[in-house]
Amino acid sequence: MLLDSQALAAICQLGNKPIGIKLAPYFDMSHFIAVANIIKKYPVQFITCINSIGNTLVIDPHTEQPIIKPRGGFGGLCGDDIKPIGLANVRAFRQLLDDNVQIIGVGGIKTGIDAFEYLLAGADAVQIATCFEKQGPDCFARIEQELSDFMQAKGYRELADAKGKLKPL
Ligand SMILES: Cc1cc2nc3c(=O)[nH]c(=O)nc-3n(C[C@H](O)[C@H](O)[C@H](O)COP(=O)(O)O)c2cc1C
Repeated sequence: MLLDSQALAAICQLGNKPIGIKLAPYFDMSHFIAVANIIKKYPVQFITCINSIGNTLVIDPHTEQPIIKPRGGFGGLCGDDIKPIGLANVRAFRQLLDDNVQIIGVGGIKTGIDAFEYLLAGADAVQIATCFEKQGPDCFARIEQELSDFMQAKGYRELADAKGKLKPL
């Protein structure tokens, strides 16, 4: 099921806490539209795009084994490889949802320029997982500084000036 509408309805009845949803990566436009139409029916304040891409397999050809042990080597793909998918999900949902639904972009962000790309796609904020795991908490200040330096060099004064402003080719 793309997104369990009944589960969302039940969560919305729990109280007045802000409601956000972490979404799986989607690949087809029909799925973006179907999920956006479900989200629009509920008071969802933010979505996070994307979760890791499930059930991927990486094989070490030298040992002839999967690189991780659990579940026969099937695991969630994240990091560099998924950035284009994360960007597309943010872009698609930014175009389909009203601005009152904020979007947290995540997937392959390890530099300020990566964060800038998510900003152009329409992210209101970004999340960092793999890079945090590799570099530790210092990554946050570094990425923030790199984003600031890059935007300043391009003549931007505010994040809002670039948010969602992906230029057409
Ligand atoms: C070590 C690790 C643990 C994660 N645990 C969770 C989790 O418990 N729940 C979840 O929704 N996503 C989890 N994720 C997925 C991340 O939140 C994120 O969506 C994904 O890794 C893509 O971001 P990245 O490319 O910056 O890693 C985890 C990712 C990593 C690397």
